[in-house]
Amino acid sequence: MKIAVTGKGGVGKTTLASLLAYSCVDLGYNVLAIDADPSPCLGASLGFPPEKLSGLTPIAKMDELIYERTGAEPGTTGGYFKLNPRVDDIPDRFSAIHRGIRLLELGAVELGGAGCICPESALLRSLITHILLRRDEMVLLDMYAGVEHLGRATADAVDAMLIVVEPTARSLATAEQIAKLAQDIKLSNLFIVGSKVQGEDDQKFITEHAPGLEVLGFVPDDPRVREADRQGNSLHDVAPDLASIAREIILNLRERVAAA
Ligand SMILES: Nc1ncnc2c1ncn2[C@@H]1O[C@H](COP(=O)(O)OP(=O)(O)OP(=O)(O)O)[C@@H](O)[C@H]1O
Ligand SMILES: [Mg+2]
Repeated sequence: MKIAVTGKGGVGKTTLASLLAYSCVDLGYNVLAIDADPSPCLGASLGFPPEKLSGLTPIAKMDELIYERTGAEPGTTGGYFKLNPRVDDIPDRFSAIHRGIRLLELGAVELGGAGCICPESALLRSLITHILLRRDEMVLLDMYAGVEHLGRATADAVDAMLIVVEPTARSLATAEQIAKLAQDIKLSNLFIVGSKVQGEDDQKFITEHAPGLEVLGFVPDDPRVREADRQGNSLHDVAPDLASIAREIILNLRERVAAA
């Protein structure tokens, strides 16, 4: 399965993606976790040891690789470069593995149709397409912003998109915009996941304002999230109850995707 995690800034996308990644490992999947944030932080949230993270460079910053594959210097526009560079070796060569999770950092991704037409975006676009269409592990995409990153060509390959929301009107408004964009590119299987939920009122608020989408689960507001973050631990290890919420979300998703 290929799952994209989106939502307004700071709502808890990375936290959820990291919990889901460990649940998938527990369920026996090979997991490829993709950090599409310009300042990567999924690795830390997954509890990757610093020495493994320091060996990683986001693909968008690998100037030599970009040059080697596309035939042009990153940042140049207008010149000639390969639009379909070779990328099949990149996920295995330039990732780190920790406890069954393969982590790939993309760096700043500017892939939108009308966006940057430059060597690095050609490479990243090919890479995402390759991962979504050709790799057969459980792929979790921790997306930095909305769905602009996913072109029409790849939307089909995403099995489900989770839109993470806090119990606030603003985050639900963003969710609605994301859902619209996703539907525009024909991305189906959209679901809401509530985050930082403090009680039944919060749950109710989210369910009532979810933009016509099923709410697949609620992650409570929990001080252990910040604590794990500070200690560099994975939340999965220190909060088994949150881990089982993530497991339920994956099991529900699997059911919905199979039925779709
Ligand atoms: N369930 C939760 N309970 C308490 N705090 C949370 C919870 N989920 C996330 N947080 C806190 O909220 C902040 C943002 O979380 P996180 O990085 O997961 O969000 P994000 O959506 O990935 O953010 P960004 O848009 O910057 O990538 C962090 O400080 C995190 O510790
Ligand atoms: Mg994040």
